[in-house]
Amino acid sequence: MAFTVAIDGPAASGKGTVAREIAARYGFAHLDTGLLYRAVGRLVLAGAEPVDAARSLARADLDRDDLRDAEAAQAASRIAVIPEVRSALLDFQRAFARRDGGAVLDGRDIGTVICPDAEVKLFITASDEVRATRRFEELRTGGAETALTAVLADLRQRDARDRARDTAPLKPARDALLIDTTSMTIEQAVSVAAAAIERIRNA
Ligand code: DC
Repeated sequence: MAFTVAIDGPAASGKGTVAREIAARYGFAHLDTGLLYRAVGRLVLAGAEPVDAARSLARADLDRDDLRDAEAAQAASRIAVIPEVRSALLDFQRAFARRDGGAVLDGRDIGTVICPDAEVKLFITASDEVRATRRFEELRTGGAETALTAVLADLRQRDARDRARDTAPLKPARDALLIDTTSMTIEQAVSVAAAAIERIRNA
């Protein structure tokens, strides 16, 4: 049986962690849709044409180990404004969402465009400073050398671009549950998300 959990929100809001934990708890498949855009961004940095790159995206492109850094993130946000890039990635995401056994997808437009009929829609936010600090710690743990101010500037620039674009901008679906994780632990955020899922599953 299909059951879709759509999780959207700005960069480093905690949506990826919540998505992974929810997928593990309920045995749902998980798709980090940002990875699709990062992989296209990387191909474009290497000289590909954005729409061609999106149309010919292959499994191996998603397994590269240079998709997590700020350069890939910025490239992703830039190519994500192109409507043909977004439509090239749409069928794959929709098919993933309706697979048997349930799926969690996290991104920017899952509840609004990819899965407007998702059983559960969450929009996860946190203050700019808290998001930047979380991403900074994550990057440092991964061995990257960067400054907190640079991380904050990167997040703000991407969010502004992601919110302002004409096609599938970052925004909550009208029926999304808003979760502000500024003063929450990850466990608390996961509990709020799990409670929303239980309400629907038990209805
Ligand atoms: O979630 P992320 O930080 O890995 O996403 C990187 C960029 O990809 C983000 O700044 C905008 C774009 N993106 C998008 O436009 N739509 C999505 N569903 C996911 C990501």
